[in-house]
Amino acid sequence: MAEKHFKYVILGGGVAAGYAAREFAKLGVEPGELAIISKEAVAPYERPALSKAYLFPQGYARLPGFHVCVGSGGERLLPEWYTEKGIELILSTEIVKADLASKTLTSASGATFIYDILIIATGSTVIKLSDFGVEGANANNIFYLREIDDADKLVAAIQAKKDGKAVIVGGGYIGLELAAAIKINNYDVTMVYPEPWCMPRLFTSGIAAFYEGYYANKGIKIIKGTVAVGFDSDSNGDVTTVKLKDGRVLDADIVVVGVGGRPLTTLVKGQLVEEKNGIKTDAFFETSIPGVYAVGDVATFPMKLYNELKRVEHVDHARKSAEQAVKAIKAKEEGKTVEEYDYLPYFYSRAFDLSWQFYGDNVGDTVLFGDNDPASPKPKFGSYWIKDGKVVGAFLEAGTPEENKAIAKLARVQPKVENLEQLKNEGLAFAAKI
Ligand code: FDA
Ligand code: NAD
Repeated sequence: MAEKHFKYVILGGGVAAGYAAREFAKLGVEPGELAIISKEAVAPYERPALSKAYLFPQGYARLPGFHVCVGSGGERLLPEWYTEKGIELILSTEIVKADLASKTLTSASGATFIYDILIIATGSTVIKLSDFGVEGANANNIFYLREIDDADKLVAAIQAKKDGKAVIVGGGYIGLELAAAIKINNYDVTMVYPEPWCMPRLFTSGIAAFYEGYYANKGIKIIKGTVAVGFDSDSNGDVTTVKLKDGRVLDADIVVVGVGGRPLTTLVKGQLVEEKNGIKTDAFFETSIPGVYAVGDVATFPMKLYNELKRVEHVDHARKSAEQAVKAIKAKEEGKTVEEYDYLPYFYSRAFDLSWQFYGDNVGDTVLFGDNDPASPKPKFGSYWIKDGKVVGAFLEAGTPEENKAIAKLARVQPKVENLEQLKNEGLAFAAKI
């Protein structure tokens, strides 16, 4: 079997890989020095499109429209771009063994790749219902969404079961974005999740009440406080019903499951230091093994602002961590250093005509402000998180670019606040004056 040697190898071909490649090109890379190895069949793309415009019935997004780095306002890196730069895109190639001691990666077909410097950018994989033994969970038309292949299968099923019934299992990011996208496809949609309100890892009950009300007004049914415990299927193996723990049974032509992700660290397990389910790195994304870096979803890194080790599963960090790692690699080669990563968490989501942004940390007391009536013609509201007398996090639905900038600055500056009642009354005006 062939053996190839590269100075730099990026393992994984998702968001972080694409932004790392652009940074390498910016800082200078010789033809043949850099390879990206990906099990996906396409060049790096902006993954968030898969749960949004990719699923629209009309005006849908398709590649090459959303290759990186278009998502952050940059130029699209088409497959030709990699060729022009002499960056090797090794696609449809799954690495099944990583031996960090001998700096060797082995693919499923037995090809080996030797590197001098490795960037691990394998992202996350979905948690499956079959992982915890839910009966019938392998039926046809039960979907998960992580990669473009998954999205293509879902699109085909949405078309095949036209105007049918969909059950969405999970009330997190995937649950909320997919319920909306499938409703737009004219399906009868029911969401099921165990918590008392949707997206509890970020939303307060006040924030969630708005989205749940808005979804209900769109005709989406929401069943809370229970989980799917089994599925029935017909003689073709197609799912027909979802059985819930509380005894209810729901008809379903398609089921979408979004019950969380898991960082893909299995290849390097036991070979380097891990923390909080991820690969532990320093502020330059170098792991416990010199010359091996980890970026994006898999990295557990020091978040300087909070003096805490954190892992972040969002696109903004995937982009920025990749750029930081490449800057650090190139600086080190020249005997220089770069500044430590100083990340301000930024998450966002879009569904229907809604769009929210969040910056900072969601800890401490909360204050809800603005108009969060889901029936309002133009609802606009937000929430602040206050810890030790300082505003540390801010959420805003329907913000203008300037307003979003203002809440980002607020979360970075962490202004003192004495009177929470006054903060509530001031609402967005408080952020605007920082
Ligand atoms: P990413 O998952 O992008 O890439 C990993 C790559 O590694 C994949 O190409 C995979 O195939 C490859 N790989 C893994 N193991 C391999 C192996 N053994 N061999 C070869 N290749 C391997 N975030 C946000 O902030 N806003 C949003 O709106 C969204 N929306 C969104 C929608 C959907 C459907 C998903 C799944 C995720 C989001 N996210 C998001 C999260 C965001 O997309 C995510 O945090 C980044 O894609 C992480 O980037 P990485 O490069 O770390 O992993
Ligand atoms: P998540 O962690 O956001 O949500 C998981 C949800 O699963 C929980 O909120 C809970 O409601 C539900 N749940 C858990 N066990 C369940 C069970 N047995 N039955 C029913 N529901 C159950 O994860 P996700 O929505 O699956 O997203 C996967 C990954 O993709 C995450 O890394 C996420 O950050 C990323 N993503 C991000 C965005 C975004 O940032 N806008 C969009 C899509 C996906």
